[in-house]
Amino acid sequence: MKKLRSKLKDVEGGKVLDVATRDGAFIMKLKDGLKSYTEIIGIDNDEEIIEKNNKTNTYPNIKYLVMDAENMDFEDNTFDMVCMSNTLHHLPNKNKMLSEMKRVLKPGGIFIISELFSEEQSPAQMTHVMLHELGGLIDTLLGEHHSKTLKKQETIDLIKNMGIQIDEIFEDYETDEGIHKRLIERVHKLPQKVAKIKDYPEFDKFMKMAEDVKKNFDNFGIERSTQLVIMGRL
Ligand SMILES: C[S@@+](CC[C@H](N)C(=O)[O-])C[C@H]1O[C@@H](n2cnc3c(N)ncnc32)[C@H](O)[C@@H]1O
Repeated sequence: MKKLRSKLKDVEGGKVLDVATRDGAFIMKLKDGLKSYTEIIGIDNDEEIIEKNNKTNTYPNIKYLVMDAENMDFEDNTFDMVCMSNTLHHLPNKNKMLSEMKRVLKPGGIFIISELFSEEQSPAQMTHVMLHELGGLIDTLLGEHHSKTLKKQETIDLIKNMGIQIDEIFEDYETDEGIHKRLIERVHKLPQKVAKIKDYPEFDKFMKMAEDVKKNFDNFGIERSTQLVIMGRL
């Protein structure tokens, strides 16, 4: 994400929190992009993934903790910077998580949200939007809340309403080489993903959606949809 990197290069991050970090992909962007940081902590409520991160992590100033981001163990005003990437659409209670993020951020601290959005995408990016929507429907049916990619304004409104002073809103693109390959694999594995709900009444409808994803992929290929990045201060 070139624009994000250019914005981070002058920022002294201090003590940084990455919420819902999963494998720490956003932490790697912070580590490489920030002018400096004292510590980066990534939290996620998935114990398995945090255990894996801790086994492979080699950076002494980066830590991974199992924690529910809706009820964090941190004191108020703990962090100089709080971030969350591509997670808003996974949250059944977005405002609860956002207000926790605000609580642990120091006054004047930096707040970053990076989130995919669904509109104004190229035909190849629409394959990703469709793939993501179907994946989300299946995950939700299987018990893990995962809604469609939000519209730009929906994300902006959520952040505005939480009382963060927004400094910058920009669009950016994921440049990680492996992403394109992983998206193609996800298209090819979609029938297996839909098969997980073969006993549900939605099966035929979702199979049809999977065929539409494949058709779009055959016609236009696949590209990752654009990220919306919001940077602000408390
Ligand atoms: C799409 S992934 C995050 C991606 C990651 N931030 C990135 O940019 O690569 C969503 C993550 O949210 C985590 N999550 C969902 N609800 C959570 C909660 N209440 N507390 C902590 N983590 C949560 C999930 O375990 C999952 O790892």
